[in-house]
Amino acid sequence: MDEKKVMLSGIQPSGDLHLGNYLGAIKHWGARADEFDCYYFMADMHTITVRQNPADLRRRTLEQLAQYIACGLDPEKNTLFIQSHVHQHAELGWVLNCYTMFGELSRMTQFKDKSAKHADNINGGLFTYPSLMAADILLYQPDFVPVGNDQKQHVEITRDIAQRFNNIYGDVFKIPEPYIPKTGARIMGLSNPESKMSKSSPEGCVFLMEKPEDIQRKFKRAITDSDTEHCVRYDPENKPGVANLMSIYAAVTGKTFEEIEREFDGCGYGTFKPAVGDAVVETLRPIREEATRILADKAYLESVYKQGAEKASYVANKTLRKVYKKIGFVAR
Ligand code: TRP
Repeated sequence: MDEKKVMLSGIQPSGDLHLGNYLGAIKHWGARADEFDCYYFMADMHTITVRQNPADLRRRTLEQLAQYIACGLDPEKNTLFIQSHVHQHAELGWVLNCYTMFGELSRMTQFKDKSAKHADNINGGLFTYPSLMAADILLYQPDFVPVGNDQKQHVEITRDIAQRFNNIYGDVFKIPEPYIPKTGARIMGLSNPESKMSKSSPEGCVFLMEKPEDIQRKFKRAITDSDTEHCVRYDPENKPGVANLMSIYAAVTGKTFEEIEREFDGCGYGTFKPAVGDAVVETLRPIREEATRILADKAYLESVYKQGAEKASYVANKTLRKVYKKIGFVAR
């Protein structure tokens, strides 16, 4: 049992989850617990590097936790917690700040992007974000950190910081590897099939908690193609909108593209689009109902994040004690 490799990932509670997140990633996370000892946390401490409305942050953190559970992250098999509940993150974050160079932090692309975007609030936390993220990771001595492309640089700097620390004090930290998940479906926007589905263009984005009639409306309005052929055929080059709808349909029904072409042979998009909408509605219905149920059950949700924080603290504390000892803090 204890031989399992450790995997850890943080999720920012900064927006609502959508179909692209689900089919591309989250759907496949539940099964990971068979192979890995998994930790997932809501990275609320990272979220405040950009100004937040307090009530929204609190609501989103809980909503997101409920949604992840509803998507199949079983709290009995995974350690699910809220970052700010485990004080070792802040503590190791401070220490690692002192082992992270100004020059390194200045070169981070996320810092450059976010400070351009929030020019009125370029705060210290935004700048030292990577040392806190390194602490998040290194506390749990994980083997793997699953990340998307935008976060690879942060795993790189984590490795550099860990290596630097180990060079001075001996093997304190395990050097984690980025884990590039076997790709789930890559889902594009319904209104703009050239770019990934994203909450920044909400007309083409289907949210997990959305009402069935709203989901249907978005599918009925989905961009198909401008050619006159009007048939359901997989041709991502010339018919990206249709290909995207086929990918979605394939992901939710398990059918192959050939089966889908046969199923809709002779049908126009007027039949195809609502059929995809229906299939998506039926896939999301149990998730939405379960997330709603969990959110309403405050005692349950609380028991999940309390137990998660307890387990996480235990592991994190072992690493933090070792670090404090190595750097010369007096034991208490
Ligand atoms: N920076 C990550 C993001 O914005 C979230 C995150 C915080 C994270 N700490 C982490 C991811 C530790 C992996 C590991 O998506």
